[in-house]
Amino acid sequence: MQLLPDQELHVAIIMDGNGRWAVERGLPRTAGHMAGVNAVRTVVEAAARRDVAMLTLYAFSSDNWKRPRTEVNSIMQLLVSRLPAESKKLSREGIRLSVIGRRDRFPDAVLQAILNAEALTRDGDALHLRLALDYSSRAALVCASQHLNGDVRHNLEAVQHALARAYHTETLVPDVDLLVRTGGEQRLSDFLLWECAYAELFFTPVRWPDFDDIALDEALTEFGSRQRRYGRVVEVA
Ligand code: IPE
Ligand code: IPE
Ligand code: MG
Repeated sequence: MQLLPDQELHVAIIMDGNGRWAVERGLPRTAGHMAGVNAVRTVVEAAARRDVAMLTLYAFSSDNWKRPRTEVNSIMQLLVSRLPAESKKLSREGIRLSVIGRRDRFPDAVLQAILNAEALTRDGDALHLRLALDYSSRAALVCASQHLNGDVRHNLEAVQHALARAYHTETLVPDVDLLVRTGGEQRLSDFLLWECAYAELFFTPVRWPDFDDIALDEALTEFGSRQRRYGRVVEVA
C-alpha cells in the first residue's frame, strides 16, 4: 500500500536519547531536550535535500506525561519558545508542518503555537514535516475505530481514512518506509504501529542531539540496500 508518489519516502524517527546525552555531559536532562531541538533543524534541512516527502518525528508520547512535572513543563516551554521562529523558517523553506496526536491536554500557549505553526506553513510542498505530540498509536487506533461504520473487515483504506481523522490530518495516513530510532533502544514505544507494517527498521546508538545530516544519510544508504518483498518471493539473478 504505497500512498506517496514513487521514490518519495516517508521517514519516521523516534528521537530518543536526549536525557542520556545530557546526563553523560553532567547536564540536566532538560539541556538534552534543548540540544535535541537543534538536531531537529539539522535533520529537517537534510531530509528536504533528499528524496524524503514526509518526515514524522516522535517528539512527545502520551506516556511522557508520566515524567516529572519539571521535565514535562520544560518540554512544553520549548515548544512555545521555539515553534514561532522555526515555523517562520519552515514556511520560507516551503516545508509544511503538521502535528499528530491528541490536542486536548496541552497548555493553551502550546496549542496556540501549534495552530499558528500549522496555519503559517500550510502551503509548503517541498516536505511534509509531522510532529507527533501527545501521541499514542494505540490510542489513535482506538479513536479511529470510533470513526468506522459498517463492515470494514477487508477495507484497509477505510481504516486509513479513519486514522487520518483521528490524527487531525485531512489526508490518508501514509505507510512508513524507513523507521529510525536513535538512542540505542530497539522498540517502537507506541509509535505508528499501523503505518510501520512494512517499514524498514534502523536502530542507532547515537543520542538524538548528536544525530545529523551524515547520520541521516547513513540510514538512507542502509535503507537503499534493503530488499523490500511485502510477502512476495523475489527472483535472485
Ligand atoms: C527523547 O529523549 C525525548 C522525549 C521522550 C521527550 P529521552 O528524554 O527519552 O532521553 P533518554 O531516553 O532518557 O536518554
Ligand atoms: C519514545 O521515547 C518517545 C519519544 C522519543 C518522544 P521514550 O524514551 O519515552 O520511550 P521508552 O520509555 O524508552 O520506551
Ligand atoms: Mg527515552
